[in-house]
Order: sequence, then C-alpha cells, then structure tokens
Amino acid sequence: MNKPANEALNEPALSTAQDEVVGHIPDDPLTGHAYDGIQEFDNPLPGWWKWLFIGSIAFAFPYWAYYHGGAEGRTVEARYDKALAANIRLQFEEIGELKQDRETVVKFLYEPSWLRVGQTVFKTNCVSCHGADGGGLVGPNLTDEEYKNVKDIGDILTVLQNGAGGGAMPAWKNRLSTNEIVLAASYVASLRGTEPASAKQPEGRKIDPWPAAPPTEQADADETGTGSDDSGDGST
Ligand code: HEC
Repeated sequence: MNKPANEALNEPALSTAQDEVVGHIPDDPLTGHAYDGIQEFDNPLPGWWKWLFIGSIAFAFPYWAYYHGGAEGRTVEARYDKALAANIRLQFEEIGELKQDRETVVKFLYEPSWLRVGQTVFKTNCVSCHGADGGGLVGPNLTDEEYKNVKDIGDILTVLQNGAGGGAMPAWKNRLSTNEIVLAASYVASLRGTEPASAKQPEGRKIDPWPAAPPTEQADADETGTGSDDSGDGST
C-alpha cells in the first residue's frame, strides 16, 4: 500500500479506508489551515490571473475619475449629444435659414425626415415638461385636440418664440436657433393625434384640424388632377 505523500510534512496520514475513497493525494504542500478537518493545499492562482485582477482594480480609479468625476462632455451621452448637434448643423446647411412663419411650419409638418430633426430639439429641450411623447407633465398634453394658447398652427410658433402662461412655458427665441424653433413647432404639430404612454387630461379648447399639406413643386408642375393633391388632409 502506498504511503500518503504528505505524511512527510507531518500531516496526519489518511487511513487506508480514506485513501481508497479519495484516491491519490497530490504531493503539493499544504498551507497548514484546517477547518473541520478539511485541509487546504497551497495552490496559489497563476500570476497572470492575479495581475489581471490587481490591474483591473488599479484601472478602475483613473477610469472613474475621468468619466464620473463630473467633468463636462466626457460621458457617452454627452459625446453623443455633441455629435448629434454637429449633425443637425450640417443638415441645416441644406435648408439654409428658414423663415419663421406659418407656411414654413406647415411645410415641414409634411416632411418626415425634417420632423425627426424637430424631434431631436424636442427631446433635448421639452420632454422635462411635456413628457417624452408629448403626453404632458407640467406642461399641457400636446397630442390631444385641445390647446390653451393655440388656435391656429402658426400660434405654436408664437408660443415657442415668446413663451406662455406668464413664463411657465419659457420663451425659446434666444435659446434655440431659428431653424430649431420652426422644426420643433412642426414636430409639436405632428404630435397631435398620436397616442402617448400617459396622457394628461385635456386643457383649453378644441381647435380646427391643421391645414393640409401645401402643393409640392412637382404637383405644381403637372396639374393633371390625378387626385395626388389630397395626400395629406391634415385631419389627424
Ligand atoms: C419649464 C417647463 C416647460 C418647458 C421646458 C417647455 N414647456 Fe411648453 N409649456 C409649458 C407650460 C406650463 C405650458 C402651458 C402654458 C399655459 O398655461 O398657458 C406650455 C405650453 C406649450 C405649448 C402650448 C400648448 C397649449 O395647449 O396651448 C406648446 C406648443 C409648447 N408648450 C411647446 C413646447 C416646446 C416645443 C418646448 C421645447 C422647446 C417646450 N414647450 C418646453 C411648460 C414647458
């Protein structure tokens, strides 16, 4: 019968019966700890593992200081917003400086790709009071048929420029660019008739539907009366 190797280290030898159950006991040194008769081999983790572990702890401190130390513009969100703003400026070069009038708001109400730009303006500046989908929080619900300060689509523009409710709705003319205000106004108009996740009760009075889409240049060019001009009846 083989002698357990660790007998040489002055450890209590296993009985023959135990030896049969446990099998061959490795020659590794023991740490000398024993809990409830269970002994611990001195088998340290490999060096690369330990250094990876220590390295990740060391890495955490500068990482935390850099991204969470409160410095402006370093988080992923902040960099995303910056890239988005730069992208919007690029897009604005395409349409130039818009006119801040009713016709322009109506025109862009029917241009979905530009409404998305208006949505970005809304998401950045308006959701805190009007809700993520315009259902209303502090500010009124912008998805229903009732409005407090708006009788005509052009009034949205005026409300955005000058504010409303004695400042409860801030004025945006000095905070947003001309194009941002126009596109945000079109986007707000487009919210009418949508279904927000949580809708605030109606405020103000019910108003007439938005005007229909203005005729496009193409429709002007071939006025064959194929019925393509009633594509947007504005009665959302
Ligand atoms: C600080 C909160 C706040 C923010 C931010 C805010 N609003 Fe308002 N908004 C209000 C309140 C309050 C009213 C209602 C004013 C009143 O009682 O007449 C309102 C009214 C409006 C109205 C008129 C609604 C109606 O029923 O007459 C529109 C349109 C509007 N906001 C759009 C926006 C847009 C677009 C933005 C972002 C550029 C924005 N608001 C940001 C609080 C806010």
